[in-house]
Amino acid sequence: MELLHRTLLATIGALSVFYALVKVSLGYWKRRGILHEKPKFLWGNIKGVVQGKRHAQDALQEIYSNYKGRAPFVGFFACLKPFILALDLELVHNILFTDAGHFTSRGLYSNSDGEPLSGNLLQMDGHKWRSLHAKSAEVFTPANIQKLLPRLVQISAGIQKDLSSAKLQQTHNISQLVAGYNVNVLASMAFGLGDRGVEEFSQWAHNYWGKFSLWRAYLALEFPLIARLLQYKSYAEAATSYFERITLSQLKEQRGRDRQPLQTFLHLYSNASQPLSDIQIAAQAFGFLVAGLTPLNATLGFCLYELARQPELQDRVRAEIRKTLQQHDSQLSGECLRDLKYSKQVLNETLRLHTPYPFLLRRATKDFELPKSVFIIARGNNVLIPTAAIHRDPEIYPEPERFDPDRFEEEAMNLRPKAAFLPFGDGLRGCIAKRFVEQVLLVGLVALLQHHRYSPCAETTMPVEYNNRMLLLAPKSDIKLKVERVD
Ligand code: HEM
Repeated sequence: MELLHRTLLATIGALSVFYALVKVSLGYWKRRGILHEKPKFLWGNIKGVVQGKRHAQDALQEIYSNYKGRAPFVGFFACLKPFILALDLELVHNILFTDAGHFTSRGLYSNSDGEPLSGNLLQMDGHKWRSLHAKSAEVFTPANIQKLLPRLVQISAGIQKDLSSAKLQQTHNISQLVAGYNVNVLASMAFGLGDRGVEEFSQWAHNYWGKFSLWRAYLALEFPLIARLLQYKSYAEAATSYFERITLSQLKEQRGRDRQPLQTFLHLYSNASQPLSDIQIAAQAFGFLVAGLTPLNATLGFCLYELARQPELQDRVRAEIRKTLQQHDSQLSGECLRDLKYSKQVLNETLRLHTPYPFLLRRATKDFELPKSVFIIARGNNVLIPTAAIHRDPEIYPEPERFDPDRFEEEAMNLRPKAAFLPFGDGLRGCIAKRFVEQVLLVGLVALLQHHRYSPCAETTMPVEYNNRMLLLAPKSDIKLKVERVD
């Protein structure tokens, strides 16, 4: 009886401490006197997101619409973690550009000693990120990206090959088709693989998370020092050791050759004036896969989905592609890509309506006093820029749900502030591969549309649904469309 009594008391004690801790955590914005969304016990303001009932993008859009115009930012909680949601474009501009020096961190977990491949640009912060970024900036120059184009065009021929096996009027799995191209691009450009080995690469490229545990990831974000001490790993060890092995062996093989063709990031990194160590190069290659594969797949998939729904726009893109190629002797050169203006507008509109990274993350590295205001973003505060909500703000993009590439005509773009369109983020921590990505998407779109027409079929989910279990935006199920050859 006494044991039962003690156990009961201990349980009540533990629950009271837990309750008090939660209450203290959720009182953060109130104590600071900052406008905030009232949090729910444990879930904060993202109830439904953790359970997969709604996408993080929807939760953020709701807070953005409720508070925009009332203050430059609003506080909210992702579970117990306090965040600042930037509400006005001037503040976004300050964070990304004018005062970017206060916001050079992202606050993700990495442990380059215990898990070397987590030492990549996306995950690193502080002086280690600065040094990596300086060395990588030397690799991602416009001239170098142009050097990658011939190999990219070669890889895109695989799309035509895949499509040529599609029977007339057949339903095609578009998500698989575009993933095939993007996986090949990353296998070749980031890891230096030839056609051999791509199948194994593709399997690991879709399975590197291992047994993902949300609460462990949450604790690693909240207590990174303890997580490092306990050697918490973000990815499956078998996957990271595979990626490490192939990069190191490609680098070795490449050094054994007399001449370097400079057609991959591996070549470019090892030819840089301040080269990284081999393991650091492997970490960057892995980071490119983590940062790039899902958004590349999503963008090309959503783009074809939108064009299938609006055949007149699709015909216009195809006509532009054919005419431009004709003007450039069928050579998909840099000049040819520059002339594909409408195709670029279509890709931009896809990135606006289906923003692959629905938000940007920053952590204040020093106190930031908002200009002409009494507000302070304190050192250590996590800031979130709700790009998807900005891209769907009717005051910036009238009728935001409508897919309309004319929004990206040069004149219309010049009328909007720079911070109104941020699919690649921007400033110091913007997507370092933006130019490369634009090239990959355009070359892919040319191969997809030049000889083929896409239309919805019985298996097309309309409107498209998003996968609520992912923070990045991706379709809930594979996009399927009817494909026909048009010559
Ligand atoms: C459609 C495809 C892509 C989109 C929409 C995209 C978008 C983004 C965004 C929004 C960020 C965060 C920017 C910020 O916080 O301001 C980012 C970071 C990054 N992206 Fe991309 N990305 C794409 C593909 C790629 C690819 C293919 C690569 C590599 C080849 C890549 C490499 C990176 C890296 C390394 C970072 C971290 C940069 C840093 O923190 O210094 N991305 N990307």
